[in-house]
Parts: sequence; C-alpha cells; structure tokens
Amino acid sequence: MQNILVTGGTGFIGSHTCAELLKSGYNVVIMDNLSNSKKAVCDRIEKITGKSVKFYEADICDYDATCQIFSENKIDAVIHFAGLKAVGESVQKPIEYYSNNITGTLVLLKVMREYNCKKIVFSSSATVYGMNNKAPYTEDMPTSATNPYGYTKVIIEQILRDICVSDETFGAVALRYFNPIGADKSGLIGENPNGIPNNLVPYIAQVAQGKLKELRVFGDDYDTPDGTGVRDYIHVSDLAAGHVCALKYSENNDGFEAVNLGTGNGSSVLEVVSAYEKACGKEIPKKITQRRAGDIDTSFANAEKAKKLFGWEAKLTLDDMCLDSWNFTKLNPNGIE
Ligand code: NAD
Ligand code: UD1
Repeated sequence: MQNILVTGGTGFIGSHTCAELLKSGYNVVIMDNLSNSKKAVCDRIEKITGKSVKFYEADICDYDATCQIFSENKIDAVIHFAGLKAVGESVQKPIEYYSNNITGTLVLLKVMREYNCKKIVFSSSATVYGMNNKAPYTEDMPTSATNPYGYTKVIIEQILRDICVSDETFGAVALRYFNPIGADKSGLIGENPNGIPNNLVPYIAQVAQGKLKELRVFGDDYDTPDGTGVRDYIHVSDLAAGHVCALKYSENNDGFEAVNLGTGNGSSVLEVVSAYEKACGKEIPKKITQRRAGDIDTSFANAEKAKKLFGWEAKLTLDDMCLDSWNFTKLNPNGIE
C-alpha cells in the first residue's frame, strides 16, 4: 500500500482529501503545524473512514522535522496543501507569505529529493489567471498575480516546472482550484475560518447562524447577467476526489502539468445567496456595497483537461454545496474545536 504525505492535511481541503485517500486504499501521513486547523480533525477523518491516520505536528519550513517524517515513513508521493491563503493578509505580511509558502515548499522539495520521492500534487489556484485573461480559463493561458499570495502560487508552479526539466523522472501536478465550498456529507469536517471570514460562503454561513448581521455584496455593476461577481464554485468533496485522480495519473506520468479543478460553470453572488437561503430555510440579509479591490467580474474554468487526463469531473451542484455547508455549520456552531 502506498504512503502519501499530506502537508496541510488537517486544513479544509486537506482533510477532505485525506478521507478520500483512505477510502481509496492509501495510507495517509499528515504533516501540519496547526496554524490554521485543529488536531481534532484527525479523529474526525478516522471516524468518517474507519481507518487511522498518522499525524505529525510539524512545519514544512523545518528541515529536520521534515527529514524525520521521511526517515520514519517510506513516502511514495506528497500532496502539498500547507500554506497561508488569505489574499488581504498577504498584502499586509508579504515576508510571512513568501517565507511560509515558498521557503516551506523549497524545504519540502529538498527533503523529497534526499529521500528519492519524485511525485507531488500541489495546491495551486485559479488566482494564477490574474486580471488579464477571459473566462473560461484554459491551462495554457499566461499566468500572473496581483498580490503576494497569488505570486506564491505562480512562483511555486515555476519551481515545479524547473525541477521537472532538471529531472525527467520527477512528476508534478499543479491543481488550479476554482472556488471550493461545501463540506463532507457527514458534517464532521468542513471549513473552519478564524475570525471574520473573507470568502463568500463562509461569510453567508455566519450570517445564517446570526453571528454576522448581513452580507455585503461587493458590487452589482459588473459585466455579468445580474451585475454581481460570477465564480466557479466547486464542492470540496469533488475537489478531494480530483486529488486522488491526479495522484493516480502522476503514478504513471512524469513531467509537469497544470490542471484546472472547477465545474466549468459560473454562479453569481446573488445565485449563491438564493441557493443558501433554500438550504437553510432563512433569508440572508444583504446590502450592496462597493466593489472589493482586486475582484474581477467573471471567473470559471474550462474543465476539459482534468477530464481528458484523469477522467475526473465535478458531480455535485451548487444546491449540494450549500446544503452541506449549512449541515456542517449547524453541527459545528463554533467550528471544529
Ligand atoms: P487551510 O488553511 O484550511 O489549510 C492549510 C493547512 O496548512 C492548515 O491546516 C495550516 O495549519 C497548514 N499550514 C500552513 N502553513 C504551514 C506550514 N508552514 N507547515 C505546516 N502546515 C502549515 O486552507 P485550505 O483552504 O485547505 O487550502 C489548502 C491549499 O489550497 C492552500 O495552499 C491554499 O492556498 C490552496 N487553495 C485554497 C483555496 C480555497 O479557496 N480554500 C483556493 C485555491 C487554492
Ligand atoms: C478569493 C481570492 C482568491 C483566492 C480565493 C480562495 C480575492 C480577490 N481573491 O477568490 O485569490 O484564491 O478567494 O481563497 O480575494 N463576495 C461578496 N461579499 C463577501 C465576500 C465575497 O460579495 O463578503 C463576492 C466577491 O466579490 C466575489 C465572490 O463573492 O465576486 C466570491 O468571493 P470569494 O469567496 O472571496 O472568492 P474569490 O474572490 O473568487
């Protein structure tokens, strides 16, 4: 049985992917510094799958700790989620973002080389399409960024491309996620944001709970059918399944590939609000405010490459995403503690 190291495995997307890996027969070793997640997530992954995970509280920037994990486990491949991800915070704290995300990835890649581990699946983001491409985005479009967080994704993709050029037996898949939302059907794992959420659905969930007064809709004068921003929301369980498909692909293929994980459909802010209202059976109070700096009108994937390369496509609908988000929120009113 293969051993997969999952960095950031107690986080939102990582935890769902660990559950999917265990269900698919892989052994899972999680490495997380718990800067944005809780160790209790491991128990919940075990509860969902009936299988055990091995957990290391460790930082990917810590070379010795990373070596220790590789020396104690024969790691066949790495799925690399660990990173800081708040766009606004990255503008305030660029050194922390570059250091955590880029230095951390370099340490991880160096240790992988030392232990002859040559397969990595990396969490990239649709943010690499920047402001100058037009949706639907295809993987061959030029990449760019408008903030330090986005640059860390652009740069790490380039690092992986360069490693694949230097070693033709190395395989790296950069998965460009669109907008992951929702939660595992069990309601045991889900998104656990610290403080006031920045992203749309976690914010709506807290309005539905009564923790926040109203949703601010950031602009209704975009060039979209109802004037509000359009995004490609994808259920986190579909996304998790995409990682297992990418891992299987990388077992038989070397070289670098960037692959979109999205549904290929866009939904507007108002459409998400109405799907959430249906899911929770309450009205979500909202007011239209000015645009948020750095936002674009429309972002959605061309999802053909993932289908062609891995045989993967998203199955769950926006209604499923909102129902599962609300289910997790109801069962965990204060998040995972
Ligand atoms: P998350 O914050 O829930 O998970 C990231 C995990 O990494 C956390 O558990 C955190 O404690 C851990 N971590 C951070 N720095 C670390 C370090 N130096 N060493 C060890 N562990 C560390 O975030 P998520 O939403 O699950 O995102 C996972 C990855 O996907 C991130 O790289 C993120 O940039 C990327 N991504 C997320 C989204 C999204 O909307 N959630 C979209 C595109 C890309
Ligand atoms: C944001 C980041 C992106 C990151 C992604 C996942 C920015 C500019 N982009 O994407 O880099 O990869 O999160 O972490 O921050 N909205 C509201 N009210 C809110 C929140 C959001 O109207 O309170 C709107 C936004 O204007 C947008 C849509 O909802 O049209 C989705 O926003 P969000 O969930 O933050 O995701 P993105 O902006 O797509």
